[in-house]
Amino acid sequence: MKTFYVTTPIYYVNDVPHIGHAYTTIAADVLARFHRQMGEKVFFLTGTDEHGNPAARAAQKRGITPQEHVDEMVEKFKALAVRVNATNDFFIRTTDPRHVQAVQRFIQRLYDQGDIYLKSYRGLYCSACEAFYAEKDLVDGKCPDHGTEPELMEEENYFFRLSNYQERLLAFFDAHPGFVQPESRLNEARSFIQQGLEDISISRATLEWGIPIPWDESQVVYVWVDALLNYITALEFATGEDLVPKFWPADYHLMAKDILKFHAVIWPALLMASGYELPRHLFIHGYLLMGGQKMSKTRGNVLDPFEVMDAYGVDAFRFYCFREVAFGQDGTISMEGFENRYKAELANELGNLLSRTIAMIRKYNDSVLPPADDHAAFDTTGAQLVLEFRKAMERVDLTGALEKVWRLVRSLNKYVEDSAPWKLAKDVSRKPELDSVLYNLAEGLRICAILLHPFMPETTVEILRQLGLPAHVENLAVEQAAWGRGEPGVMVVPGRPLFPKLQE
Ligand code: MSP
Repeated sequence: MKTFYVTTPIYYVNDVPHIGHAYTTIAADVLARFHRQMGEKVFFLTGTDEHGNPAARAAQKRGITPQEHVDEMVEKFKALAVRVNATNDFFIRTTDPRHVQAVQRFIQRLYDQGDIYLKSYRGLYCSACEAFYAEKDLVDGKCPDHGTEPELMEEENYFFRLSNYQERLLAFFDAHPGFVQPESRLNEARSFIQQGLEDISISRATLEWGIPIPWDESQVVYVWVDALLNYITALEFATGEDLVPKFWPADYHLMAKDILKFHAVIWPALLMASGYELPRHLFIHGYLLMGGQKMSKTRGNVLDPFEVMDAYGVDAFRFYCFREVAFGQDGTISMEGFENRYKAELANELGNLLSRTIAMIRKYNDSVLPPADDHAAFDTTGAQLVLEFRKAMERVDLTGALEKVWRLVRSLNKYVEDSAPWKLAKDVSRKPELDSVLYNLAEGLRICAILLHPFMPETTVEILRQLGLPAHVENLAVEQAAWGRGEPGVMVVPGRPLFPKLQE
């Protein structure tokens, strides 16, 4: 059976989750659900990155221990995953003793084989990024990502021989042009490697909140090495069975561009050093912006995802994320834009299409789906659409995939207007025509529901239910999205409006 392993970054727990975190988790969930609908065996991983400076400082500020702080915060991240309807197979915490031990084993092996050595180092450090910066990469002396001034840090640290992997990394990039997507990000990562790689410090001496270096407990493992390893350690202990042979290499690591360098350079080098295969793809999506700036905890311009979902529902939110902002590019989101799409596209175009279709099948055919004399016109367009949708999903073009389905939604609305079933109903001799229209509308909606399922899991199950179809796995399989698979004779079931009027 084909497998599919998808991950989100593991999120920092120095503060509460925001919409940016929900965004990546939902994207990963969309992929996980789609690949399950394709009949694949999926493993979907998310979790929290709990060691390092920001978490330790946040705890200190609150006058509690780091462990108390992270234990509390993790619950909010877990609750977010549940609230967005994420179907993650596991939630990894880097404070899990099983992860801690696995990291220690991993790093000990690199040390034993000579990939790690001790050296004194002095540099400018941004503790929000947990990374050193060269002077030339700062903007007005400040971190380009956080706008804060880095601190001068000098320590004796353990270093990983990253420089040894420069040639192998470049060769890998050349041999795997789809490794980093979109392509612009591949070029960015490649040119970074080409500029020359220096060895990196993989331990910290001044920090206590981390995983002790096994051969020198006065230091802890650099939080990025600890964090990146989660993608493998989780597979080792998530279920009790070692899932590495089954699911590694990962098919997709999803993330925004802020952490591209760690995933496209350090992570592959660590994997090469330890003899693991490299992940198949990194997909780098853009930033959600608010008021033109990246939404971030450090900047304070964040929306509370829980509030948005309480007001509009989880599916509308999931839909909006990929409809409003082309997946892979930066884009601005706003409550206004959200409400517009809710009303125009969800309530009017999709919601009304379903309620009209159900109402007409009830009125004109006693709630029974009639057979169609003719659906040939839809067979090819339908098949073409499904093919294009699948291709878009397979290249993680979530926005493109959604657009394909929306074209079908719109053409079905046009079909209602053009064929005017209410006129056909007045003439008994045209009953076969009327039946075909009703069948095709229900069939179109059934196909939309299957294809939209990864994006709007609750709504699409409700669509199928109203169409008289239980939402079991077989009815949701992508291969069922073909015109004519729907059986005439089922009874439609009227239900609630899919997208009720918003409260002012
Ligand atoms: N802990 C590290 C990741 C370690 S992965 C081995 C980290 N955590 S984070 O909490 O800062 O999460 C960063 C990620 O959150 C981004 O890469 C992206 O996936 C998501 N986003 C955070 N803010 C976002 C936006 N404003 N817009 C889009 N995605 C956002 O980095």
